[in-house]
Amino acid sequence: MKTYNFNKEAPVGFFDSGVGGLSVLQEAVKLLPEENFIYYGDSKNAPYGTKPIEEIKRLSFAAADFLLSRGVKALVVACNTATSASIEELRDTYSNIPIIGIEPALKPAVELKLPGKIIIMATPVTLAEKKFYDLIKSYAENSVIQPLPCPGLAELIEDGKLTGEEISYFLRNILEPFMVSPIASIVLGCTHYPFIKGELSRIIGADIPIIDGSAGTARELRRQLSLKDLLSDRTIKGNIHIFNSLEGEEIIKFSYTLLNQ
Ligand code: DGL
Repeated sequence: MKTYNFNKEAPVGFFDSGVGGLSVLQEAVKLLPEENFIYYGDSKNAPYGTKPIEEIKRLSFAAADFLLSRGVKALVVACNTATSASIEELRDTYSNIPIIGIEPALKPAVELKLPGKIIIMATPVTLAEKKFYDLIKSYAENSVIQPLPCPGLAELIEDGKLTGEEISYFLRNILEPFMVSPIASIVLGCTHYPFIKGELSRIIGADIPIIDGSAGTARELRRQLSLKDLLSDRTIKGNIHIFNSLEGEEIIKFSYTLLNQ
């Protein structure tokens, strides 16, 4: 078991298989603008969502170690797939640091009480893991829940295909079979997907709510920092450093573009 001590002015670390976790970082920056953040995208090894669990665990620990070696005071696993595969082991190993994960935001979707089915779009790994089964178990009785694995979608987003024919074709292809009967809402169970919300809306209709867990994760980060008296006392805006396992400036530039959009 590794233990660490941190001070309240240390940065918060975020990681994801690539650029997806930036959708979670966006919400954290809105909620906690005085904090410093370090983001690590593992684009070299993306996607995680179709890899064996043991490999995802190994990559998650490598990402966590990268951030911990830079002295972060809390860790946000800004990836649903890495959360399903490795959050328990990360918490057992780094027991002294708050570790916040993300899972499909099913609860707010159920609470809308809209007629029709709730579609949960996520990676094959997220939807196959026990964590997901445990999540839907408690809601399945009163709601119609339709898991929808989307292999290939995170890759398109990593490639910057956020709008246009390719992404639109992909989405139409996977969603059309479900559009013959009412859709209550769509839950985005992968942190890459909020970046294609616009395209998704165009296909399913602007009136169907699209829900993701990034704001909830940011609130949980604030709650845990506050609980441990780790919220920064700074009164000026904090800074954000983005790192990526891919070499070159292009991925870093793309990351800042996504973060600021
Ligand atoms: N962003 C990751 C998630 O939230 C998945 C993308 C991938 O397959 O690497 O699940």
